[in-house]
Amino acid sequence: MYALLTETAEITPMNETAASPRPASNATLIEWSDDLSVGIQEIDDQHQFLVDLLNKLHRAIHQRQGKAAAQAILTELVDYTKIHFAVEESLMRILGYPAYDDHKQQHDHLVDEIHDLQEKLESGKKSITFELLHFLRIWLTKHIMEEDQQYGPFFLSRGAVATSEKKSIAGRLWSSLFG
Ligand SMILES: [Fe+2]
Repeated sequence: MYALLTETAEITPMNETAASPRPASNATLIEWSDDLSVGIQEIDDQHQFLVDLLNKLHRAIHQRQGKAAAQAILTELVDYTKIHFAVEESLMRILGYPAYDDHKQQHDHLVDEIHDLQEKLESGKKSITFELLHFLRIWLTKHIMEEDQQYGPFFLSRGAVATSEKKSIAGRLWSSLFG
């Protein structure tokens, strides 16, 4: 079953002065499971990478690693998200995905949301909190489960392979950057 672990800790701004740091925690925000799979290994690997980044951000907040550390991870998440979306969109165009325009619009909206968030964090209008993590968790998993899983069967029907050693051009580009 797809598992989103419940965060019970209080909402704590990252930039507050804490008397004592919390004990180190390995708490995981999102557990990867087959319920998040789109059925294509190459895409799943990229989604898993984004899930790992969110978990890394979660750990940074839990362990009070500091605002700069958390913001750096968020920047990584934003950058990888944009590249991942570009990979998905190029595959959609190559394979003639009929819902391309709608999906692209969703991506643009998600990028606008996360940019807006990033700006507010950088300008100090907002803090990195567990509440924000909750938003990002929904932001990522909802899109994967409600939008991305729809293209899986279509991609496969158009010749995409579920698992292969040989990656697509987009996948090779991803691997050369982050592999
Ligand atoms: Fe997508």
